[in-house]
Amino acid sequence: TELAPPSTEIITLTRHVLAEQIHLGPAASGDLTLLLNAIQLTSKFIATNVRRARLINLVGLAGDTNVQGEEQKKLDVLSNDIMVNALRASGKTAVLVSEELDEAIIIEDRYKGKYCVVFDPLDGSSNIDAGVNIGTIFGIYQIRPDSQGTIADVLRPGSEMVAAGYTMYGSSANLVLSTGNGVNGYTLDTALGEFVLTHPDIKIPPRGKIYSFNEGNSLYFHPPTVNYLNSVKFPPAGKTPYSARYIGSMVADVHRTLLYGGIFGYPDDKKSKQGKLRLLYEAFPMAFLTEQAGGIATTGTKRILDIVPTKVHERTGIYLGSKDDVQEVIKFYEAEA
Ligand code: AHG
Ligand code: MN
Ligand code: MN
Ligand code: MN
Repeated sequence: TELAPPSTEIITLTRHVLAEQIHLGPAASGDLTLLLNAIQLTSKFIATNVRRARLINLVGLAGDTNVQGEEQKKLDVLSNDIMVNALRASGKTAVLVSEELDEAIIIEDRYKGKYCVVFDPLDGSSNIDAGVNIGTIFGIYQIRPDSQGTIADVLRPGSEMVAAGYTMYGSSANLVLSTGNGVNGYTLDTALGEFVLTHPDIKIPPRGKIYSFNEGNSLYFHPPTVNYLNSVKFPPAGKTPYSARYIGSMVADVHRTLLYGGIFGYPDDKKSKQGKLRLLYEAFPMAFLTEQAGGIATTGTKRILDIVPTKVHERTGIYLGSKDDVQEVIKFYEAEA
């Protein structure tokens, strides 16, 4: 028998976002659609450079240190520049916050729009030179009604974000996005140059079989973390211990957690007293996606999306993933209290 010809019903990211806009009716201005177009372009641009990094001398250090005291890689700096340029040029942004910039950028009037974008241009820097999965993370706020765009527009709880997502540069480039109405995943078709809908309506399984922590920090972990990890490694008789998977790129570890279930954690500990991951452009977008996919994101004692940031590079401890798994961590914190 003959195979059916390929489908002509390709749903691209642009088409999907446009459809959502049409669904919202004439009141929707289309500005978010245009902003998301700018963001997907930056992901394609970064993906191209990631693929070629080894060939075009884009591996290794840039020579500077960022405000968090991390040595910047060439790809950190390039990805940051790509995003700042495209987001400013989109005419849809008012405030930009990047991991790689000390201060927020307030966009000049000529280009000013009504959205604020907080982003980690290149997540998983330590994995770049080994060719292991890395990514880009972003969150979007709309400026408050009375505002011209100030730092106060981004020092707001993650629950007020209007959209969040990430792109993972792995065996393929995958963009995962939520505009507050579930989570969808798209895969870059390099021949078309388009992100194509491949993972509609992602839902995290309510329970998984994988835990994902940097256990090299065990010496510093607080008791609830230690007790939780022991519970998955040494379960009561008859239950199977969890598998360990830890890539060290939040984007990749969260992506696997969304698809397979389980738990990802980077808790605060005796050494990293505020945690390591950054609230605005790592924890908030990933917590937003996790909740939209039916999971939970917590510090152990508090919902991540309820935290009110006081500075743009603020850090937090985080656990996220399958509902039932994360609930168990929370129980260990309650027992300690
Ligand atoms: P970034 O590369 O953007 O600075 O982020 C690194 C983060 C995150 O990707 C990952 O989850 C975590 O740091 C890994 O930290 P460890 O190397 O301490 O495990
Ligand atoms: Mn970094
Ligand atoms: Mn990061
Ligand atoms: Mn980064």
